[in-house]
Amino acid sequence: MSGRLPARFLWGTATAAHQVEGNNVNADCWALEHASPSLFVEPSGDAVDHYHRFDADIGIVAGLGLNAYRFSAEWARIEPERGHVSQAAIDHYRRMIDACLSRAISPVVTLHHFTQPRWVARMGGFESPDFPKYFADQAARVARALDGAALICTINELNLPAIAAPYFNARVTPAQRAAAEQALGAPLSSFFLYCREEAIFGNGLEAHRRARDAIRTERPQIGVGMTLAISEEDAEPGAEPARDARRERYYAPFLDTAKGDDFVGVQTYSRTMSRADGSVGPARGAVTTTMGWEDRPEAVGAVCRWISSRWSTPMIVTENGYVGDDDTRRAAFIKTAIGCVRDAMAGGADVRGYLYWSLLDNFEWMLGYRQRFGLVETRGEKLTRHIKSSAKALAQAAARK
Ligand code: BGC
Repeated sequence: MSGRLPARFLWGTATAAHQVEGNNVNADCWALEHASPSLFVEPSGDAVDHYHRFDADIGIVAGLGLNAYRFSAEWARIEPERGHVSQAAIDHYRRMIDACLSRAISPVVTLHHFTQPRWVARMGGFESPDFPKYFADQAARVARALDGAALICTINELNLPAIAAPYFNARVTPAQRAAAEQALGAPLSSFFLYCREEAIFGNGLEAHRRARDAIRTERPQIGVGMTLAISEEDAEPGAEPARDARRERYYAPFLDTAKGDDFVGVQTYSRTMSRADGSVGPARGAVTTTMGWEDRPEAVGAVCRWISSRWSTPMIVTENGYVGDDDTRRAAFIKTAIGCVRDAMAGGADVRGYLYWSLLDNFEWMLGYRQRFGLVETRGEKLTRHIKSSAKALAQAAARK
């Protein structure tokens, strides 16, 4: 299995199409952003125009001495209407692959990063029994066209709706729901972040398996996996059974499925504490970030150790990052997080890469542009790129190998 993974450790950074490209007008998310009243604090608009500036942006990745770049190939651009495939969009992503390869950067391509074509949403999204078939067709199409991709992530954070959709749904007002459903022409559950967990465990896992098989048929040399949202799970005294139950429910079924994959993408930002009173959240008294998460760079190392205690699928940290405006803290976070990943590896965890989220400050979904994870800031109407000092922290860690 692991013969399909690059021999070198991957040091890199990540983005997702909708969050950086701009004008992803045929995506379900775009429709939701423009509903009134919207679930989104602001629309994505031009984002940071990565669609046109990808070459210079990939040049920044290379300039930092990194050897991997994760981005997503947007289904809503490639198949904007059911059965209509845009060769121009495919050619665009082909050029992105070439921009990576010409700089000795391994391209890591995600097929589904929360957004999908509006026609998929109208069909019900993950809730539709047809979803696995359409998704597998898209996977085959992309794998065929994007020869040279080192790895493909099928679905980003497939387990996330099981954890977060109840929380997101509880915050939707009746007026927002009505506007969203009118914009989508379907129930809000057709948008990935709001979908029911039954759809994830059923059609979602099936879509992943079918896409993996389709990719292997087209391009047997490409490593395939899904990515998972995984917190470090911890417990106050007495709440250990609740912590263990969360692990079994939200992570174990996906990690079991990933046994047939080449890798599993670990996406860890923080720690979730199961509390004695039955609630979950940051540890009491912890320093929190602008997202309200505990500032905890150690979390990613703890997750790698926990996974390797039960599963042997190789791991790639496909996302880990610090959100906030304090770039000095971001640099320190990166250093500590990577140190913790190294410690986990020294203890036997099979980790093959570390990709920081994110290359660029970008559109943080419902929360808009205020939340900043980037190594690179974009300024003014010209969207000029400014490399932050935290980018150098990642470059230094990568240079140390
Ligand atoms: C997602 C990203 C998101 C990040 C920070 C992950 O859930 O894959 O799209 O921006 O976390 O919230």
